[in-house]
Amino acid sequence: MVARILDGKVIAQEIQAEISRSVAAHVAAGGPTPGLAAVLVGEDPASEVYVRNKQRACKRVGIASSLHRLPQLTSTDELLDFVGKLNEDSTIHGILVQLPLPQQVDAARILDAIDPAKDVDGFHPYNVGLLSQGRARFLPCTPHGILQILARCQIDITGKHAVILGRSDIVGKPMATLLSQKDSPVSPQCCNATVTLCHSRTADLPSITRQADLLVAAVGRAKFVTAEMIRPGAVVIDVGINRTDNGIVGDVDFAAVSAVASAITPVPGGVGRLTVTMLLANTLVSAGGKLTS
Ligand code: GUN
Repeated sequence: MVARILDGKVIAQEIQAEISRSVAAHVAAGGPTPGLAAVLVGEDPASEVYVRNKQRACKRVGIASSLHRLPQLTSTDELLDFVGKLNEDSTIHGILVQLPLPQQVDAARILDAIDPAKDVDGFHPYNVGLLSQGRARFLPCTPHGILQILARCQIDITGKHAVILGRSDIVGKPMATLLSQKDSPVSPQCCNATVTLCHSRTADLPSITRQADLLVAAVGRAKFVTAEMIRPGAVVIDVGINRTDNGIVGDVDFAAVSAVASAITPVPGGVGRLTVTMLLANTLVSAGGKLTS
């Protein structure tokens, strides 16, 4: 079997075109121009790239974006003050504090301080609570992007076994929540899965991954998922972005796994494109707009 490539670039372009039209319609109807403030503390090279991509994407769809650079040695209190000012600024509808933060900063306190109404990452405990009750205002961007890929590629996961590798707050946990819910904010076909959430202490991982109809890999380890771990015909979503001597690779051994799976996302050009795109969608919603296709 040769897997179908689920092209994140094409899907992201399609959604960004929809966002662009929706932003224009929102502004034409008298709504405010959506504004996103990104906060970058220090000079982490990967974060620099992410933030630059977010800025460019904002520009493409008509969202006003500002980048606030703070020094590496910024304290928790200084960052709390800064976030407080952004909370008060009525031209800012979305606040994104790029993670990871330097180790002297208490990241949980910072994320808790972002106004939940401007928390376009969906990381605030209030928004996590809404998500777990199935009434989220902001879906976390990476899991939301994955649902968009599944929905737009007409992959029905109803009643299927979804295995998620990685229990992070950003990807694994919210992904498990969304896939197992009774209803989906994206499409009726991308919920109602039976979900297994695996992590570093999971025993005999391959025996579990081989049961997966849908495998979502978010472990942050280059080529961690091998062909032997895949049930023939499974759909494989690769969330990994690992920098190696041979460039950026995912958590999945793409060449080997694409010979076994029925569909797979590439890295780069897969899920990453959607993460940025769904941030734009959340910023539009936060400004009172609505994403229409
Ligand atoms: N660092 C890596 N991914 C993300 C993300 O989705 N949001 C933020 N704020 N930081 C990140």
